[in-house]
Amino acid sequence: MWAYNGQYPGPVLSWRQGDTLRVRLHNDLPQPTTVHWHGIRVPNAYDGVPGMTQDPVQPGKQFDYRFVVPDAGTYWYHPHVNTIEQIGRGLIGALVVHERKPPEVDADWLWALTDLRLDRSGQIVENFNDLHDAAHAGRVGNVVFINGALQQDFSARPHARIRLRLLAATSARIFGLRFDGSRAWLLAIDGHPVPVQLLSEPLVLGPGQRADVIWEAPTEGQTARVRDVFYPGRGYELAALKASGAALTLVQSPPAPLPANPLPELGPPTQPEFVINLQGGAMSREASREAIWLINGKAMKNEAMGHGHQPPLFTLKSGHTLDLVLNNRTVWHHPLHFHGVWLRQRLGDQWGPVRDTVLLSPQESTRVRLFADQPGHWMVHCHVLGHQANGMMGHFVVV
Ligand code: C2O
Ligand code: CU
Repeated sequence: MWAYNGQYPGPVLSWRQGDTLRVRLHNDLPQPTTVHWHGIRVPNAYDGVPGMTQDPVQPGKQFDYRFVVPDAGTYWYHPHVNTIEQIGRGLIGALVVHERKPPEVDADWLWALTDLRLDRSGQIVENFNDLHDAAHAGRVGNVVFINGALQQDFSARPHARIRLRLLAATSARIFGLRFDGSRAWLLAIDGHPVPVQLLSEPLVLGPGQRADVIWEAPTEGQTARVRDVFYPGRGYELAALKASGAALTLVQSPPAPLPANPLPELGPPTQPEFVINLQGGAMSREASREAIWLINGKAMKNEAMGHGHQPPLFTLKSGHTLDLVLNNRTVWHHPLHFHGVWLRQRLGDQWGPVRDTVLLSPQESTRVRLFADQPGHWMVHCHVLGHQANGMMGHFVVV
């Protein structure tokens, strides 16, 4: 495997809101790399995109990341060079920014959900650039891990309220998490607080997405379970939570909401909406061997090369908003991730929670409102890494 500081997943990096993140990357890999800080608001120079915001860090070289973390929540970090291989070999880690006054909970757990594709001898299958995977659902692994471990039995005192930070750090696998046998409430999505909501439907997390949940331990001697039921007919038990020890008092009321992050309130759009069409995939008319996936008819294949050669998809002004119409013209799921901005998806007649990655179902059309803060060149790409590597990338500019 490839690992951050010898660990899979990498160390959980934690700061307090308003602190300055300081990380020195030493590249001991046999190929160039960078670190992208996924979801956290970051100055452009530290966004980790090779050839666009920094030079790739060559083997033996180093790079210092340093910026203030303005928002509390659950974020993560990963390479942005040859991402399909570097994440596929294990380079991911969580970034937790604690509230200045963290809410009281009985435990604060983080689950980095990953998968690997292993052969019968337990070695990573090294077909990272397999075109069949890339043209379909991506590189879905055959072994799922919580924090790098197969042992999925947890325990807590009866009725304990656990803040569970869920991070989907897979190359392609999507999760649909069903909480059975005890209550769970949704607290935050992609780092940002949402109105507290009892989970009754599976919690869907596409690659790159996060959710914070309050998970209540059951009564003495009972076991609660989390099942992943995303892929029809292929459900499995992800984890079990046994209640043991001295019981805590059962609290009936739902947990309190998290304090909002200091995101600037931005007004309505001041420029016409922009349309993004996602195209391509196996058997589609637009796809070719060179460009399996496309955004608005164009494929950007090399993270480190594309930017100089391709015009931005769109430009927007710092402090302004822009509405995007996202049309998934393919028969596959795409978790579309935007760097440098945050967004809300139109859900019915309202704007949904703040997030950085929106999961599009096959043939789905939706509308999002982008909020732009930091100027610079920023990427937008599918977080199914085989889709990204084979064209489903582009960039936009905030001026
Ligand atoms: Cu999580 Cu451009 O990436
Ligand atoms: Cu995709």
